[in-house]
Amino acid sequence: VAAAAVRAELLRWYDANRRDLPWRRAAEPAGRGSGRGEEQRAYAVWVSEVMLQQTRVPVVVDYYSRWMARWPTVDSLAAATQEEVNEMWAGLGYYRRARFLLEGAKQIVEKGEFPRTASALREVRGIGDYTAGAIASIAFNEVVPVVDGNVVRVISRLYAIPDNPKESSTVKRFWQLTGDLVDPSRPGDFNQAMMELGATLCSKTKPGCSQCPVSSNCQALTLSNQNASVKVTDYPRVVPK
Ligand code: ADE
Repeated sequence: VAAAAVRAELLRWYDANRRDLPWRRAAEPAGRGSGRGEEQRAYAVWVSEVMLQQTRVPVVVDYYSRWMARWPTVDSLAAATQEEVNEMWAGLGYYRRARFLLEGAKQIVEKGEFPRTASALREVRGIGDYTAGAIASIAFNEVVPVVDGNVVRVISRLYAIPDNPKESSTVKRFWQLTGDLVDPSRPGDFNQAMMELGATLCSKTKPGCSQCPVSSNCQALTLSNQNASVKVTDYPRVVPK
């Protein structure tokens, strides 16, 4: 797989097709350079990624907008009560996620600054490898991978890997391969493009290879066995130790 070509083609596709989502607007590089703007982006990415973990995009858009209107900054969230947060979360399910957001906000405010690297972000309660990678790459431009079930599908096809991604050795390999592929100049866009490709064209059944920006580099397509690659449903979003 030619990494430079994959990056360029994927990002060109993403630039032309990316959905205009409220947290993407918040994550725009307008405030780059001003530490405050980056922290604000990190907060927006964190809230949206946690919501997106078990909930579809259109539903998240509404919840996200209400959440950010009520608690526009990590400091304002840290001052909320668990009851208020649960009330806002009602309907999203998995209340553990809401509890972690509040606990994490308190931890960050106590620390005095938003952690800026994936490894520092992982120290925050409730932030695992997936969320750490998303915040670090999208808000702070750290060149780190993000691997969710959609990315596993894209990578398993690009490299024609038939292994079960629930095996920890395979999971490690997916994080490694994705990490080697991340575009060093636009890591956040690259990661979001991979997730979006997996969520749209590179679907579990009937992938849209004829429209796919990276089809010429796809080993599964070359081998005509796109469906020999695993059909991932509940991929664990952590790098095995
Ligand atoms: N799925 C979860 N988070 C996403 C993001 N930031 N972009 C595209 N798809 C996603």
